[in-house]
This record gives sequence, structure tokens and C-alpha cells, in this order.
Amino acid sequence: MEAVTKLDPVIDIRGLALSFEQNGQRTDVLRGLDLAVEQGEFIALVGASGVGKSTLLRVLMGLAAPTAGTVQVHPDPAAERPMALVFQDARLLPWRRVWSNVAFGLEKTSLNKAERRKRAMQALSVVGLADLAERWPWQLSGGQRQRVSLARALAVRPSILLMDEPFSALDVATREGLQDELIRVWRQMGKTIVFVTHDIDEAIYLADRIVALGGKPGEVKAVRTVDQPRPRKRGSIAMQDLAALVKADISAEGAPQRDDWVI
Ligand SMILES: Nc1ncnc2c1ncn2[C@@H]1O[C@H](COP(=O)(O)OP(=O)(O)OP(=O)(O)O)[C@@H](O)[C@H]1O
Ligand SMILES: [Mg+2]
Repeated sequence: MEAVTKLDPVIDIRGLALSFEQNGQRTDVLRGLDLAVEQGEFIALVGASGVGKSTLLRVLMGLAAPTAGTVQVHPDPAAERPMALVFQDARLLPWRRVWSNVAFGLEKTSLNKAERRKRAMQALSVVGLADLAERWPWQLSGGQRQRVSLARALAVRPSILLMDEPFSALDVATREGLQDELIRVWRQMGKTIVFVTHDIDEAIYLADRIVALGGKPGEVKAVRTVDQPRPRKRGSIAMQDLAALVKADISAEGAPQRDDWVI
């Protein structure tokens, strides 16, 4: 019989601990954190403010070093970069036009200016903003700015998209529009996404699995699988039930819930 070979997880975190030292004082932020993310998965990371969500993304990006444990990343070999990060605020450079902001991350590559512009235009088309390419950032709405920042991340062709509360500063209608947009982009491009959010409904609407961080130092309290077909129905009974479970995961004290629950 032929052996079934399972692909390595694209992200494999084992026993991750991280402490910050400041003025001789140690703060333990993360402890004993295990997480494996499969290629093409959409993971939502939820948890109270200060639990270490952004720190975990920084560790994945290689911007913060673990105190203990291992973090392995096995990016899709077809991708040009392992990862790109999208923040809560778009962080566009005001002196560059929209297309030039999107092309910014390509400047250290071997692509010439025409190729960079072409790549930027492709990424802008993916997020539906090609016709705004010549505008300045101040001529955009908040939602459009976030789409430009998503395009800038896509332009470098990463295997994994890390997103740190990218829609939390937007009004509900814009946020929901961008959630649908993101799902469309994700399905079209087959990327792995790790999406940090405070909004449990957003996590349930978007993700394949929801990872709840909790405790001090932070650890994985529960992992829940959202077994709902897409497009998902906002506010359905199944989604509300799951929201109640995730809310409890986040606030729960005591032993982590290690089972994979399916609704
Ligand atoms: N460079 C640093 N030096 C010292 N402590 C830090 C540093 N960066 C983060 N921390 C601390 O680590 C903890 C986790 O911070 P982090 O930003 O990861 O939280 P978070 O879960 O993203 O919170 P939020 O939901 O508010 O964004 C906090 O207590 C924070 O004060
Ligand atoms: Mg944060």
C-alpha cells in the first residue's frame, strides 16, 4: 500500500514562550504555545487585549525572538516571500501615489520600474482599485486605504498573509464588504491567512479555525473549527452558538481546552 504523505504544516509552533526584559523587569507574554497551521488555511486569532496576539505575529515575521520553543515556517515554494503583514492602519506613504505605495515592497527586488508598476496594478485589480492607482492616499476613504494596504501585501506574492486587526477601525458596512473581499481574494489566491481580531463575529464569519489565546502569560485556550459552508450567513443560530463558545474560551480561566470542537 502506498504511504500517504502529509504536507508539513505551513506554520509549526511548539512550546513557544516569549518574555520581555525592561529595566531589569521581566514580563512573560507567551508561554507553552503550540499551533500548527496547514497550507491554505484561514486562521483567526482572538483573545483579550494584551494577551500577545500582535507579539505572536511579530515572532512569525521574525521581528521578535522567542525565549523558548520553536517556530518553523514552511512557505509555499511557489510564493516569492514567506510572509507579508497587514496592520490596523494602512500606513501608506503620503508622498507616493496609490500604485507606488503598492509597489513599495518590490523595490529591493530585481524587478524594474515598469515591472513593479505592472505588479502593483495587478494587485490593485485583485482588490478592485485599479482605477484609483494614480490617486494620492489622502484622496481615499478608510476602506479604500485598507484595500491598498492589502494590495501592497499581495504584491510581494507572499505564501502567508498575517493580518493584525486590519478592519477594526472601519464602520460596519465597510468592514463587512472588506471581509467578503478578503474571502474572495483568499479563495482566488490560495494563501494561508492568520487574522487577528477582537471581533468574534468577524472571526467566525472568516475563519476555518478560531484559535483563542488566554491567560497571563498567553497560551492557546481553545481551537474551534468553523464547519460552515461559505458564503456564511451572518448571525445564523449556528454562528451565534459558536460565538458564545469562543467568548467563553477567551474569558475562561484554568486548563486549556485542547479538543478541536466542530459545530
Ligand atoms: N517591546 C515590548 N516590550 C515590553 N513589553 C511589550 C513589548 N511589546 C509588547 N509588550 C507587552 O506584551 C503584551 C502583549 O502585547 P501584544 O501587543 O502582543 O498584545 P495584543 O494581544 O496584540 O493586544 P491588543 O489586542 O491590545 O492589540 C502586553 O502586555 C504588552 O505590554
Ligand atoms: Mg495587538
